[in-house]
Amino acid sequence: MSNAFEIKNLNIYYNGLHAVKNVSIDIPHTLITAIIGASGCGKSSFLRAMNRMNDLIPNSRRTGEILFHGVDIHQPMMSEVTLRRRIGMVFQKPNPFPFSIFDNVAYGLRIQGMRDKATLDQRVEESLRRAALWPEVKDRLKQSAFALSGGQQQRLCIARTLAVDPEVLLLDEPCASLDPTGTARIEELLQKLEKEITIIIVTHNMQQAKRLSDTVGFFHLGELVEFGRTEEMFEHPRIQLTRDYIMGHFG
Ligand SMILES: Nc1ncnc2c1ncn2[C@@H]1O[C@H](COP(=O)(O)OP(=O)(O)OP(=O)(O)O)[C@@H](O)[C@H]1O
Ligand SMILES: [Mg+2]
Repeated sequence: MSNAFEIKNLNIYYNGLHAVKNVSIDIPHTLITAIIGASGCGKSSFLRAMNRMNDLIPNSRRTGEILFHGVDIHQPMMSEVTLRRRIGMVFQKPNPFPFSIFDNVAYGLRIQGMRDKATLDQRVEESLRRAALWPEVKDRLKQSAFALSGGQQQRLCIARTLAVDPEVLLLDEPCASLDPTGTARIEELLQKLEKEITIIIVTHNMQQAKRLSDTVGFFHLGELVEFGRTEEMFEHPRIQLTRDYIMGHFG
């Protein structure tokens, strides 16, 4: 099993607050890794570190190393634009741009300089199909993205990210604002994508982590308490704290 990420002694601070504490973890390539833990334990900070989004936060500081396919993501040669294209991110609240459905998905492609209409059309359709949204929007591509339901908007955001062909998809509680049907659609879609790309998903939903992920990391107060194969971790957690969290005793 090869690794997409090798993270060594990662620390993240906000002013005096030590949010992620000496985390070392290998994230496997083309599998789904779930990150679980109580509110405030550093899950989002950890996830944002993966494509250097955390560097954009004023007063945040990082130490430690993040290797992406063996290459240090902080080395001066690594462009942030390229890194964020290769490692896309989707957030808790769907955040479509105030454009049409088509223009949302075409956004990243146009930034890359793609102008040819036929190629753009084709790439937009392909991305919407991969995000399992095409049948619902194919006749209304010119409509505002805000006319979509929450679940559709979230799939649109996934399509927008997929359009530029990322190798990794980071998802921070992507189903938090969705109903069970919307959630099921996203889970189904992630399971299909898993064959091609590496997925890291933060979730508060234990059932979702169990259903969806291959490996799971449990964070507590900024530390990575336990990391392992999902089945093993849910059935035989090695550490009492993990067991308590999984059983719903706190968080
Ligand atoms: N931009 C920021 N500035 C200052 N402190 C921050 C910032 N972002 C996060 N923190 C602090 O870092 C700690 C970890 O926050 P983080 O958002 O990573 O946790 P989380 O596990 O994602 O929580 P939740 O489940 O509520 O989303 C918290 O104490 C939080 O208050
Ligand atoms: Mg969070």
